[in-house]
Amino acid sequence: METPFLYGRIAENENFTDRDSEVEFLVRNFESLINTIIISPRRWGKTSLVNKAARILREKEADVLICQVDIFNCRTEEEFYTAFANAVLRSAATAWEEFVRGVKKYLGQLAPIVSMSDEGQTYEFSFGLSFKDANLSYDEILDLPQTIANDKGKKVIVCIDEFQNINEYGDSPAFQRKLRAHWQKHSSVAYCLYGSKRHMLLDIFNSYNMPFYKFGDILFLQKIKKEEWIPFISRRFADTGKRIAPELSGLIADKMRNHPYYTQQLSQQVWLRTPPDAECTLAIVEEAFRALIDQLSLLFANIVDALTPRQIGFLLAVADGVTNFSSREVLERYKLGTSSNIKNLRNATLEKDLIDLLPGGRIEMQDPAFEYWLKHVYR
Ligand SMILES: Nc1ncnc2c1ncn2[C@@H]1O[C@H](COP(=O)(O)OP(=O)(O)O)[C@@H](O)[C@H]1O
Ligand SMILES: [Mg+2]
Repeated sequence: METPFLYGRIAENENFTDRDSEVEFLVRNFESLINTIIISPRRWGKTSLVNKAARILREKEADVLICQVDIFNCRTEEEFYTAFANAVLRSAATAWEEFVRGVKKYLGQLAPIVSMSDEGQTYEFSFGLSFKDANLSYDEILDLPQTIANDKGKKVIVCIDEFQNINEYGDSPAFQRKLRAHWQKHSSVAYCLYGSKRHMLLDIFNSYNMPFYKFGDILFLQKIKKEEWIPFISRRFADTGKRIAPELSGLIADKMRNHPYYTQQLSQQVWLRTPPDAECTLAIVEEAFRALIDQLSLLFANIVDALTPRQIGFLLAVADGVTNFSSREVLERYKLGTSSNIKNLRNATLEKDLIDLLPGGRIEMQDPAFEYWLKHVYR
């Protein structure tokens, strides 16, 4: 039997809840060709949101091409160009022959090699050996969306996931200048750039002296609210013949601090433990939560192993909700050394994606299960 909750994959259709205003905002920006930047910690729903907006737009407008590319695995500029061009060309082609024609037509002089895999289910091209040495300008690649827009008389929306990765390329500022210089001339194309490393993305998009400053609207995606989770969880139980009281649905969301991925994961565990046609109980929720923390504890132990004692102390302080880290009492209780360490501790844990800086300067643990584990199991 299919389970009613989903995590670790794109949430769509009946698995997708809330986000009405964000979806509307994004669709409107796509339609008006306004560039958009979306920032949130990982597993809060960026990919699912963009995917939903793209689907709606596809249904609404026939003269628009939407291209989605994830550059998580692109470690160099060259890999970026290849992934980018492949995605753009694929979005413009409905069949293999058309794809091959596109590659030849637009990128012929870059000596591309086209290949097909999974019996024609997917196809891609790569660049021949000459690519690296040929001193090519890549202008054709960066201008590809606009070229195709002109050719087909359509608007093009380019969505790039995990965009902060470009920060790691050789000369990133130069690369960013190049991207911006090309993209800002594209009058029929909108770019939607999103990712999870808030501090990196803010460096790219919100620093006055960086090329992408004021490139587009910035959307800070929030978690899904408890008021949305309660009817969602209850409905998914009801859809499968089981029942859960609103208080218990709310408790699931509370335990996971409304974190989208974890709330779905815990819901799933609770649902699995609830017998067919029965009603969920408090004991089931508590048991599912304990089991989940248990299941994750090896992972958390590994994270802690890679931290210094002061970093661990700092995380414990964050988990306890401390706000004034440089007070003498806090420094002593959590063994943080002197107040001059705080900035380093904050930056180190931020870079490891363990904490998140909220607007207003408050600090929060990114992972609610890790937070619980630190406070109640590790301590
Ligand atoms: N709108 C939503 N409704 C319900 N669950 C969601 C929603 N968005 C995300 N989730 C949950 O969070 C998980 C991660 O979503 P994803 O879109 O991959 O996040 P991100 O791209 O920010 O890492 C999904 O697998 C799903 O469990
Ligand atoms: Mg994602």
